[in-house]
Amino acid sequence: MTDQTLTVRDNRTGEEYELEITDGTVRAADLGKIGKTDDEPGLAVYDPGFTNTASTRSAVTYIDGEKGILEYRGYPIEQLAEHSTYLEVAYLLIHGELPTKEQHDQWVHEITFHTFVHENLKSLMQGFRYDAHPMGMLLSGVGALSTFYPEARAITDEQVRHEQIVRMIAKMPTLGAWSFRHAQGKPYIYPDNDLTYTENFLSMLFKMSEQKYDPDPRLSKALEVLFILHADHEQNCSTNAVRSVGSSQVDPYSAVSAGIAALYGPLHGGANEAVLRMLKRIGSKDKVPEFIEGVKNGDERLMGFGHRVYKNYDPRAKIIKKAVDDVFEVTGVNPLLEIAQELEKIALEDEYFVQRKLYPNVDFYSGLIYEALQFPPEMFTVLFAIPRTSGWLAQWVELVDDKEQKIARPKQIYTGGRGLDFVPAAQRWA
Ligand SMILES: CC(C)(COP(=O)(O)OP(=O)(O)OC[C@H]1O[C@@H](n2cnc3c(N)ncnc32)[C@H](O)[C@@H]1OP(=O)(O)O)[C@@H](O)C(=O)NCCC(=O)NCCS
Repeated sequence: MTDQTLTVRDNRTGEEYELEITDGTVRAADLGKIGKTDDEPGLAVYDPGFTNTASTRSAVTYIDGEKGILEYRGYPIEQLAEHSTYLEVAYLLIHGELPTKEQHDQWVHEITFHTFVHENLKSLMQGFRYDAHPMGMLLSGVGALSTFYPEARAITDEQVRHEQIVRMIAKMPTLGAWSFRHAQGKPYIYPDNDLTYTENFLSMLFKMSEQKYDPDPRLSKALEVLFILHADHEQNCSTNAVRSVGSSQVDPYSAVSAGIAALYGPLHGGANEAVLRMLKRIGSKDKVPEFIEGVKNGDERLMGFGHRVYKNYDPRAKIIKKAVDDVFEVTGVNPLLEIAQELEKIALEDEYFVQRKLYPNVDFYSGLIYEALQFPPEMFTVLFAIPRTSGWLAQWVELVDDKEQKIARPKQIYTGGRGLDFVPAAQRWA
């Protein structure tokens, strides 16, 4: 279509350029032709944090933040959370289509039978200090997996790739649970392959002397829902880290450990912990109006509200709210829930929040569930990383197969000095 272009006039030279618009974007390479001479580079885009730069074409996850829509491979998150399982969703994300019965059974079988890790990896985990952060342990454990499976470097071999994907999804709960047990000085529990993915995770987390751990189905279902909600969220910081590191064609364990490292940071995976801290600080329901006033005066921030992308109710928050009820039915009501509900009620009616389109996000309730399940705050990001592994791997497969992708190598605007004469230290300090 001829009108799908952008005419740019470079006022430095008076020259005009016509750039093609495709899918609402112009190619940075086309901009690079503007003003390019033998001595000068062409125009570039300055975009710290990639806030308005598309780095890839992707068919994995669709988000419409204005309307509050989240879809995996075209399927609404609400339907998946209600009717699917985490492993089926993982299959969908990675393969692009829902599995047939045979494909599903084979997938679940493979993942179930790869949950064990090499004993040396157990020794590695045991080598951490008694108070090691579980996310640091997970990050190292996943990175170390690359040394146990050196064949993983053959990233274009589909069979090899499949094996690593299965291994990583399978072993993540094992490593995550062991990082949790480590801090408590409790023995690591081996996987129980009779259990489902989330049941087995609960068993490795909480089993003590019983012969067989029998998780409450309401808890394993709630965890299943949380895992589905966290499985992917398109091009965020950690996914970008996986893609960026993966673009060097390193093995997927190393690429995913980069994603875990990104998630470790408080701006990415730490919001639900901040929600809990806030609720504890408020202390009781009657203090909520006072706190809301503080937020409106700019003295406080209502954690778990607002989102960079969602300017409507975060679709995941709606689903989590339902899971909260199930969990508290088992664990007993956490007094913080009352405060959270009151905060939500007042904020959703208040002009300040309505006007700014501030709605609860996924973190508003997930921290409460995790706390009810007796996870310490340091475990919250581990509980995020385990299910996000399928999303990272789906994005990684897409990257590896994408002929347009290159090694990630952004430009910079150099602001430092030039051509300085180096004076050796002995002379400078003389
Ligand atoms: C997530 C977040 C960083 C998104 O920020 P953003 O899209 O850049 O939104 P802005 O910071 O531009 O905020 C727009 C307005 O809403 C206000 N606002 C945004 N989030 C707010 C919150 N949680 N509490 C109170 N006010 C908030 C801002 O102060 C600003 O008001 P102003 O226009 O009067 O200055 C922000 O909403 C936030 O800090 N939320 C709390 C932390 C959180 O839950 N993070 C997890 C996200 S998954």
